[in-house]
Amino acid sequence: MLHTQIGIIGAGPAGLLLSHLLARAGIDSIVLENRSRGYVENRVRAGVLEQGTVNLLSEVGLGERLHKEGMAHHGIEIRFNKKSHRIDFDELTDGKGITIYGQQEVVKDLIAARLKQDGKILFDVSNVSIDDPNSDAVKIKFHHADSEQELHCDYVAGCDGFHGVSRESIPGDERVEFNREYPFAWLGILVAAPPSADELVYANGPDGFALHSMRSPSITRNYIQCDPEDSIEAWSDDRIWQGLHDRLETVADWKLQEGEILEKGITPMRSYVCETMRYGRLFLAGDAAHIVPPTGAKGMNLAISDISYLSTAFIERFKTGSEKLLESYAANCLRHVWRGEHFSWYMTSLLHKFPQSSPFQERLQSAELEYLRQSTPASRSLAENYVGFNFD
Ligand code: APR
Ligand code: PHB
Repeated sequence: MLHTQIGIIGAGPAGLLLSHLLARAGIDSIVLENRSRGYVENRVRAGVLEQGTVNLLSEVGLGERLHKEGMAHHGIEIRFNKKSHRIDFDELTDGKGITIYGQQEVVKDLIAARLKQDGKILFDVSNVSIDDPNSDAVKIKFHHADSEQELHCDYVAGCDGFHGVSRESIPGDERVEFNREYPFAWLGILVAAPPSADELVYANGPDGFALHSMRSPSITRNYIQCDPEDSIEAWSDDRIWQGLHDRLETVADWKLQEGEILEKGITPMRSYVCETMRYGRLFLAGDAAHIVPPTGAKGMNLAISDISYLSTAFIERFKTGSEKLLESYAANCLRHVWRGEHFSWYMTSLLHKFPQSSPFQERLQSAELEYLRQSTPASRSLAENYVGFNFD
């Protein structure tokens, strides 16, 4: 039988950062991850870090490679109706920006930092279940290295993403949930080619959405709107490139550079919130509690925001015995979560072609894009949300 103060399920950015922050305060944790280390370190996900995320990671000793290899951006470009509109963060926000740094790079840095300090991460566990989350005798059962194990802990942090077991451990009739699925998905490709622009380019065209993003001076990441029912086989490389050229090359003299496709996959789009982020001794954080469509680039940033509150609350609990911050955990997180949900829904609605939309809805979308182009306050609102808010 194992014992720890905080049992953490999931070695994504949420679980690993929580473990790192707790260790800095002298609080013991064990992270249980059902995939291998190689798998989580190479899983391609989004790559936009808000200013607040960069600040937090830097303050806790995780900024070295991030500052060296991360790409600081001061704006984004939005293309529609053959026009281009730049959202200038320097001009429109109080000095904030974003940094492009792949989520798996954050995960690599966190794993390296934990292992350097003899932090406990068990990879390749299976059959994870939470027993008695609503009692003082909470424990996590799992299978690891050919044996059944029990981890007794004071609290459990469910950081196991949208498809994990933690949220399902809260009885269905106790969960307050909100869900919206979108009638499209994103097909993403990782490409061995230098960026064709200095900043991210979001495009809305008659055939739908496309995004040109990047990971480094030699690797780009592009996305194209597709049908959620499409299989990846239906998208040959030629079809992907043709779609990207058509949707992105809408301004004079701009060409999208092609390269070898290193990875491709389809991601469904959904908005989801489980407001019940605490159930007895179980706390949910990150994708385990909420999902946003990727258009606003908020997923990892919201996970980090949750962990900033959860780590502070656990530290207060173990230093003073007070549960006050644990009690306000969900409410504190949900203020940011719902702002992120709204912004991600707004960006998604603004930039995609909705298969069932009426001419009336199409005109509303065009009117909103024109408003953004012509109104500084409208652009400022988008910029403020894109670079993110402070975790206060
Ligand atoms: N047992 C143990 N680990 C599990 C289980 C389980 N039953 N189910 C899932 N996991 C692991 C996953 O393999 C993954 O490594 O939990 C981890 C959850 O990590 P993420 O999905 O990265 O979620 P989170 O840490 O909340 O980070 C949110 O991830 O999906 C993106 O867009 C999202 O950027 C956001 C970020
Ligand atoms: C990415 O680079 O993967 C990316 C960028 C911006 C988004 C979503 C994903 O809105």
